[in-house]
Amino acid sequence: MENCDSQPQFWLAPLAGLNDLPFRLLCARFGALGCHWAPMICAQALMHPASRLQTLKLLEWLPEQERALQLFGPNPQIVGAALEVAWELGVREVNFNLGCQVPKVTKGGSGAILLRDLPQVYAILEAMKRSYPQLHLSLKLRLGWDNYALTPLLREASNLGVERVFVHGRLGTDGFGGDLRWDLLDRAAQESSVPFYANGGVTDWESAQRLLALPRCQGVMIGRGALGRADIFAYLQAKARGEELQDSTWSGSPAQRRQRQLELLKEHLELVERYGRGPERERMHKLRRHLAAYELLGPERLQLASFRALRDLIARSEQS
Ligand SMILES: Cc1cc2nc3c(=O)[nH]c(=O)nc-3n(C[C@H](O)[C@H](O)[C@H](O)COP(=O)(O)O)c2cc1C
Repeated sequence: MENCDSQPQFWLAPLAGLNDLPFRLLCARFGALGCHWAPMICAQALMHPASRLQTLKLLEWLPEQERALQLFGPNPQIVGAALEVAWELGVREVNFNLGCQVPKVTKGGSGAILLRDLPQVYAILEAMKRSYPQLHLSLKLRLGWDNYALTPLLREASNLGVERVFVHGRLGTDGFGGDLRWDLLDRAAQESSVPFYANGGVTDWESAQRLLALPRCQGVMIGRGALGRADIFAYLQAKARGEELQDSTWSGSPAQRRQRQLELLKEHLELVERYGRGPERERMHKLRRHLAAYELLGPERLQLASFRALRDLIARSEQS
């Protein structure tokens, strides 16, 4: 903790398929940063007439929200052209993805696999900043693809106009499991010429503290740990201030924690009803991806087909 100059920051990680507007608003309620980032979009998909409309549908913000998004793509011209479209939509902040390792992304040469070709990364970042010098640019990185690759990029980051980096402490070939590569993450934190944020495996105060102890680490980014537990951001903020948050899914008796998760789900459902897009069937389909994570609420939650069924379950659970 002594490594953070001031209070550490807690950011919501991009989670494709899960970080739609309702979920981001729920996390924002608990003080998460980065909730104005629309989900990751593919530069080529945005520029291709056949996929443009579908891609644009992912870009949801509240009218009063600043507009940011996460972008990926292997080609400087196409990323530049996609940024032009985004800029027209009012986007002033882009997080460029160099961390994704799913085959759908890497087989086209994007995401973490691009870390094997740093000159191409520089060309993309230069294309973005050349056209839009006022753009707020950050990077989401793995430590490398199959080897540590970040030294030159982190040292150059400031000269490239990158404002901050979020580093997931694994290589692309590591996937999402196993322990973080602590030695490499420590090295990345030391090499960064811009504010450094660590990511990977934060589910409680102990795991957050371990990342926050990295050299000059300004904060952590949380993905899976926020699913079903959006209050993790408020909980960690309180812990960082040396306080205990009484009302959270971490504190109190099992019954109180279950009650807290029930309230979170109720709020999540309200946000989906109010801000979700498309017919109820589609919105419920998206919400179902989250329901697995509300694990304190019992197996019945996994079988629900409508808002009404979910509301009934919540009402029954409140009485029991
Ligand atoms: C379902 C899922 C979707 C993800 N989508 C994205 C994404 O769109 N962009 C991105 O940079 N990382 C994505 N990630 C990676 C997370 O942002 C994060 O780096 C990773 O899950 C490790 O952090 P965590 O242990 O806190 O979840 C995704 C991860 C998961 C599990």
